[in-house]
Amino acid sequence: MLTFPDGFLWGAATAAHQIEGNNVNSNWWVHEHEAGTTIVEPSGDAADSYHRFRDDMRLLADLGLNSYRFSVEWARIEPERGFVSRAEIDHYRRMVDTALEFGLNPVVTLMHFTVPRWFERDGFWRAPDAADLFARYTEIALPIVSSGVDYVCTINEPNIAAMLAGGEDASNLVAYGLPNPDLDVADALLSSHRRSREVLSSVSGLKTGWTVATQAFASTGEPGADEKLREYGYPRDDWYLENAQGDDFVGVQAYTRTFIGPSGPLPVSPDIETTLTGWEFFPPAAELGIRSAWELSGHTPVMVTENGIATADDTRRIAYTTGALAGIHAAISSGIEVLGYQHWSALDNYEWASGFAPTFGLIGWDKQTFERTPKPSAAWYGAVARANGLEG
Ligand code: NOJ
Repeated sequence: MLTFPDGFLWGAATAAHQIEGNNVNSNWWVHEHEAGTTIVEPSGDAADSYHRFRDDMRLLADLGLNSYRFSVEWARIEPERGFVSRAEIDHYRRMVDTALEFGLNPVVTLMHFTVPRWFERDGFWRAPDAADLFARYTEIALPIVSSGVDYVCTINEPNIAAMLAGGEDASNLVAYGLPNPDLDVADALLSSHRRSREVLSSVSGLKTGWTVATQAFASTGEPGADEKLREYGYPRDDWYLENAQGDDFVGVQAYTRTFIGPSGPLPVSPDIETTLTGWEFFPPAAELGIRSAWELSGHTPVMVTENGIATADDTRRIAYTTGALAGIHAAISSGIEVLGYQHWSALDNYEWASGFAPTFGLIGWDKQTFERTPKPSAAWYGAVARANGLEG
C-alpha cells in the first residue's frame, strides 16, 4: 500500500463555466455564439450544476472524497461593471457551506478562464486598471471565502489565460501551450494575482496561490531541440512557477507531455496511445509537474489542482490515475510537500472549444434529464481516498 500523508486532500475539480450552465454574462458565452466561431458547440445548460451542486457534492462525499475544488463566476457576481449581485454571493457562500456540511474541504478558484463581458470589452487583461478591477472583485467575493475555506486559487492557468487573451483563438485551448503567450498580459495576470492575494490576506489562515498548466515539454534530443525546448518552457510555464515563490501553495495542473524538436512541438506519434483530447496518455505528467513546480518555486507547497484524462474507456481513466498517483507518491517520498490531489474532473463537462465530447468526468450525466451516474472510476477513486492510499 502506498500511503499518503495525514490530512492529504482527496478531491475532484470543476470550473463554473464548464458545469453550471447559462453563464450568459461571461465573455465565453459571447464567443460561443459568434458567427464563424471555432468553438464546436455552445455550453448551454452544461451539467446544470448551478442548480444541482448540492447533489453533486453529496455524491462526491458519498464516494469518500474529502475535498472539492470549484470556481466562482466573476460574470455572475459582477455582471455589470461596478454592479454587485448579492444573490450570487449568497449562492456561492451556500456552495462553501454545503461543501463543509458534507465534509468536503472547499478549494475555491476566483477566475477559471471566464471573465464578465464588460471586463473583456473594457480592455481585458491589457486594460491599465485590470489588476485594480481583479482586486476589487476579490474584495467583493471575500464573504464567500471569509470562513471555513483553507485554500483559494486566484487565477487558473495564467499561462493558458495569457495565450487566450493574446488574441489567439479559442481552439488553442485544445492545442495546449502551443501558441505565443502575450507577455504584457502575463505581467497583468501576475499583478492581478498579487493584488488579489493581498486582499485575501485579511482572512486569517487562508492559503492562496495560483494554478499553473505544467506541460512537461520534452526534447527529442535532435540538434537544436534543446534550445527550442528552453524557448517553450520559458515563459510558457516556468516563469509562472517561479513567480509562485512566496505564495502559500502552487497548483499543478498536469495531463500529458509534448515533444519539442528543432522546429518546435511535434504531434503525438501514431503508435502512441492518445486520449479524446488527442493528448498522449502519459501518467507521469503529474509527478513531473510537481517536481518542476517545487524546484522553480523555491520549495513552495504543491497541490495537484487538476489531473485526469478524457476517455470513453473508464478502465483507462483508472489506469491513468493509478500511474499518476504512484508518481505523486514518489514525489512525496522524495521530500516534496504535496497537499492534495484534485482529479479533473468530478463531472463530464464542457471542454471549451472542444465542446462536450471529451469526457473527463468520474461522474456522467444524462443529456435530457441531467441524472448523474458515477462511473466505476468514481468508486475506485473513492476507495483510494478512504484508504488514504493506493494498493501497491
Ligand atoms: C485545464 C483547465 O483548467 C480546464 O478548464 C480544462 O477543462 C482541463 N485542463 C482539461 O483541458
